[in-house]
Amino acid sequence: MRMILVGPPGAGKGTQAARLITLLDIPHISTGDMLRAAVKEGTELGKQADAFMKRGDLVPDDVVIGMVIERISMEDCGSGMMLDGFPRTRPQAEALGVALEQAGLALDSVVLIEVPDGSIVSRIVGRRSDPKTGRIYHLEFDPPAEDVVDRLVQRKDDTREACVARLRKYHSETAPIIPFYDALGILRRVDGVGSPDEVTERVRAALKV
Ligand code: AP5
Repeated sequence: MRMILVGPPGAGKGTQAARLITLLDIPHISTGDMLRAAVKEGTELGKQADAFMKRGDLVPDDVVIGMVIERISMEDCGSGMMLDGFPRTRPQAEALGVALEQAGLALDSVVLIEVPDGSIVSRIVGRRSDPKTGRIYHLEFDPPAEDVVDRLVQRKDDTREACVARLRKYHSETAPIIPFYDALGILRRVDGVGSPDEVTERVRAALKV
């Protein structure tokens, strides 16, 4: 299966991706994770991306498109992939379409996880992740066990200010790709409010898996 997870910051894309990739046996390609890894490693790409990410801006299309096209042409994406956080702009969606078409491939589904703006800030500022396992927690909604809590880290862009900027970008730049995929007949809308288990069931029903 070739699919995309889309939704506002903090909608639960990463949380749902972690549950679904085992079931679907496809690689999880998160542009946010790839960019954070590049920043951490101090690569040229990471240096370019860092300032944009910290202030909640999108990294320029040409940087992200090149990174993703290279990644999805790798062998492990031969039988499918789950894109998370890409595409995020209309030019990214178009570039992905061209790359897949040139490879004789097509997208199966685009899952939109819908969460109202009013719930986003609390999800973002309470998020913590475990650098050892990659597991995402929430201090209130998905609390960590006591033995891991001391090693948890908070993302640099998980401040209230950056979150508001990211949400604004989502509405101005990313929301316009939704009608694009709707017109192709592959958009599946999923209510992202409820427990992570409930949301997983809804995504599975939408994908029929
Ligand atoms: P990215 O890492 O993609 O961030 P995002 O899209 O803003 O999404 P998040 O990772 O913040 O949230 P999520 O939906 O994965 O939610 P999660 O499951 O963690 O991108 C970061 C930055 O990189 C961008 O701002 C941009 O600068 C750059 N970038 C990335 N891709 C780019 C691109 N294509 N083009 C240009 N720039 C790009 O959940 C959030 C919290 O809520 C967690 O604490 C979780 O435990 C909790 N939670 C999850 N589900 C539920 C639930 N059902 N109920 C209650 N709490 C829940």
